[in-house]
This record gives sequence, structure tokens and C-alpha cells, in this order.
Amino acid sequence: MIGFALLGCGRIGRVHARNIHAHPGAALAACYDVAGPAAAAVAAELGVPQAHSIEEALANPRVQAVLIASSTDTHVDLIARSARAGKAVLCEKPVDLDIARVDACWQAIAALRPLVMLGFNRRFDPSFRALRDRLAAGEIGRLEQVVITSRDPAPPPAEYVAGSGGLFRDMTIHDLDMARYLAGEITEVQAMGANLIDPAIRAAGDIDAAMLVLRAASGALVHINNSRRCAYGYDQRIEAFGAAGMLQAHNQHPTTVESWGQARTRAMDPVQDFFIARYADAYRAELDHFIGCVATGAAPLAGFAEGREALRLADAALESMASGRAVRLS
Ligand SMILES: NC(=O)c1ccc[n+]([C@@H]2O[C@H](COP(=O)([O-])OP(=O)(O)OC[C@H]3O[C@@H](n4cnc5c(N)ncnc54)[C@H](O)[C@@H]3O)[C@@H](O)[C@H]2O)c1
Repeated sequence: MIGFALLGCGRIGRVHARNIHAHPGAALAACYDVAGPAAAAVAAELGVPQAHSIEEALANPRVQAVLIASSTDTHVDLIARSARAGKAVLCEKPVDLDIARVDACWQAIAALRPLVMLGFNRRFDPSFRALRDRLAAGEIGRLEQVVITSRDPAPPPAEYVAGSGGLFRDMTIHDLDMARYLAGEITEVQAMGANLIDPAIRAAGDIDAAMLVLRAASGALVHINNSRRCAYGYDQRIEAFGAAGMLQAHNQHPTTVESWGQARTRAMDPVQDFFIARYADAYRAELDHFIGCVATGAAPLAGFAEGREALRLADAALESMASGRAVRLS
């Protein structure tokens, strides 16, 4: 039984709290949030202890692993403190918004050889994982192209955008990690962004739509398309195209019922509304994978280095958008 401390009990923290509580190999030994009522709500819902400081959570002898689901600007500090306390860490993406802080964090803890996994949940989505495994098994031959579509249902509030690090570091970072997961190391990034949706996002200095083209060391090309608004829900699709065929993972719907009539055929429910519903299975599988790594000492599918690489690609996308040129990565 792996004892967890949960640091951060907001939107995604509550998802993880319920998954830890429900997992037969895990127990939520402490939950903490700087906003006391957020932690108190999780403690009351699940009947688990609330910690009143990070020190208290990390000193708890039942705690072997820490799940960091607090605001992004706290991640590097909490990773370092947890690693120094000898805990395994599952930290939400991104590691940080500043690659220098990411590197400083790793330098400070590398000698401890900590187990740090990044919450790139899409790697654990059953459909995306199956697509990747079948690609790796050679089902479509040599990979030539990947198309990743990732569109949010509605723009976030302006105050969220202001602290998000921008679309590439906040949203595209998942797709950049998926690009590496499917196509391997990326050597070139070209990005264009636009303000097509929400004037408040432009006012905050960010973009709300983007298209990126990446080149992998293998020669494969990857196209990522992002939007902060999508009229039909949370649009999450992947297509891998190879010499011998194509693998596609489609959107998911609450039910598979189709309506056929005079006006339209094959009409289905809207696609899943957002990440909590769409990736419910992925968050559970991600946690299960992490628990297996803690139990066996195996390296996680997405470690600290994956978090760093995805951020490096997001920074390259920003540079490309600003310069209008492709950015080559060493
Ligand atoms: N992988 C995913 O699908 C996914 C989805 C959503 C959010 N996230 C990431 O998870 C993190 C949290 O996002 P959210 O949407 O849940 O935000 P949120 O604002 O709903 O929750 C964050 C919580 O962290 C708390 N907090 C802030 N500083 C803290 C500290 N030092 N110690 C403990 N708690 C602290 C806040 O009080 C708040 O309750 C972000 O880094 C975000 O990028 C990942």
C-alpha cells in the first residue's frame, strides 16, 4: 500500500484525490492546500486526514509518494522539497514555465536519484496508448506523418491566461509531449499563432489559436493544431500515417447512440465536454503506472526529462512564432 500526500486540492487535485482513494494499492494519507477550505473539502469527502502545512504532509511517516497538483509556479519548489524528504513524486504538467528554473530544480535533486513522474496523462489514454503501441509494433510501417488535434471547448478566464505562461506552455505542451511519444526526438519547430476568438486573450498578450509543424529526427513530420474554442466540445484526435497505412484515434462521446433522420445521419451526442471527463481513464491509468513505478523502482513513462523537453519545445514554438522562422534544436 503506497501512502500519498496530495499537495493542491483544486480542479485536477480533486480528480487525483478520488483516484488515489479508489486505488486498491494506494491510500491518501494527507491532503494539503494553501487554501484550507479546498483541502478540508477533500478530507471531508473522502474521510482522509488534512495536513495543515507542507512540512506536516512530508513528515508523515505513512507518506511515501507526493502528488503535486498545485499551481504551476509552486511545482519546482514542491518537487525539490518532496525529493529531499525521500518521497517519490508525481507532478502535474508543466514542471515550470522557465527552463532555467527547471534545470536548477533537477541539479538540486539529481544526486538523490529521485523518482519523478510528470502528469502527461494523454500518454495513458487507452486509445492513444494503443495507437502508440501498434505504431511501435510496425502495423503501419515507417512513420511519416502525425496529426494531433487538440481544441478546448471554451476559452479560459483572462486571469487564468495571465498566469498560464501562454498557449504553447500551458496547452500545446501536452501535444508536444505526444509528438515526442509518437515520433521520437524533435529537431525542428515552426509555429504560427493567431487571435481569432477572445479579445481578452489578445489583451493578455497571448494567442488563442495555433498551428505547429515539427520535424522529428526520424524524418517524420508532425502537425499540431490548437484552438481555445470548439463549438462541439473537447476535440482530441490523433492520426498517425505510415508507409503501410494509417492509425486514427477519434473523439469520444458519452454514449455511442446515433440518430439517423431526414435532416442528418449518424448524429451523435456532443463529444466529451472537457479533460476531466475525456481523460478520466487516463488519469486512473497514469496513477496506476506511477504506483507500479514506486513499488518496483521502474522508470516512469514520462519522467522529469520529458517535462523539460516538452517545455523546451514550447519555448522553441514561441521563438518561431516571434521570428517567423523555423527553429532548429540541437
Ligand atoms: N494534466 C492535466 O490534464 C491537467 C489539467 C488541469 C490542470 N493541470 C495542471 O495542474 C495544476 C493545477 O491546476 P488546476 O486547474 O487544478 O488549478 P486550481 O487553481 O484549480 O488548483 C490549484 C490549487 O493549488 C493550490 N495551491 C497553490 N499554491 C499551493 C501550495 N504552495 N501548496 C499547496 N497548494 C497550493 C491552490 O490553492 C488551488 O487550490 C497546474 O499546474 C495545471 O497546469 C493539469
